Amino acid sequence: VLKADHRDVEQLFKRFERASENAHEERRRIADQVIAALSQHSAIEERLLYPWMRDYIENRDEEVLEAVEEHRMVKWLLTEIAATDERDEAFSARMAVLTEAVRHHVKEEESELFVDLRNVATRAELLELGEALTAAKRNAPKTPDVDGTIARVAASVGHARTVGHEVVDRVESLVGM
Ligand SMILES: [Fe+2]
Ligand SMILES: [Fe+2]
Repeated sequence: VLKADHRDVEQLFKRFERASENAHEERRRIADQVIAALSQHSAIEERLLYPWMRDYIENRDEEVLEAVEEHRMVKWLLTEIAATDERDEAFSARMAVLTEAVRHHVKEEESELFVDLRNVATRAELLELGEALTAAKRNAPKTPDVDGTIARVAASVGHARTVGHEVVDRVESLVGM
């Protein structure tokens, strides 16, 4: 689900890069699609993926927190782009910075976090998470929620304590204790 989102956004970036400098309306349309897609994608990752990772994956808090900060930066850029006229000279520059930031973020997510997730989660858990992500996407906001990020992911730390014993049980059963 998440990788498909990543590919879709990359397609939009490529279309934006290929569009002529003077195709203002086309570039505006693509930028608006990027804003909607990334707002939804970041919302479901923050609500479901990142808390899940903090709960179940040991020693990855730092990477998750870094990802959260990148989301905040990306959403701030989305807000700026939404408010920038497509004829403004800053429009292209802001889209270029966004593209670079998202490509970097996606690369790290797919090469580190998703790999960990596959290693730790059972097949049933991955399917369940995938379904939850798909369902959450239907109601996810199409505009960037800049302030929501930190609160949502921080809330998972308290939750992590309560599920801690479940993780211990799981590990114990895995190693046959
Ligand atoms: Fe992300
Ligand atoms: Fe992502």
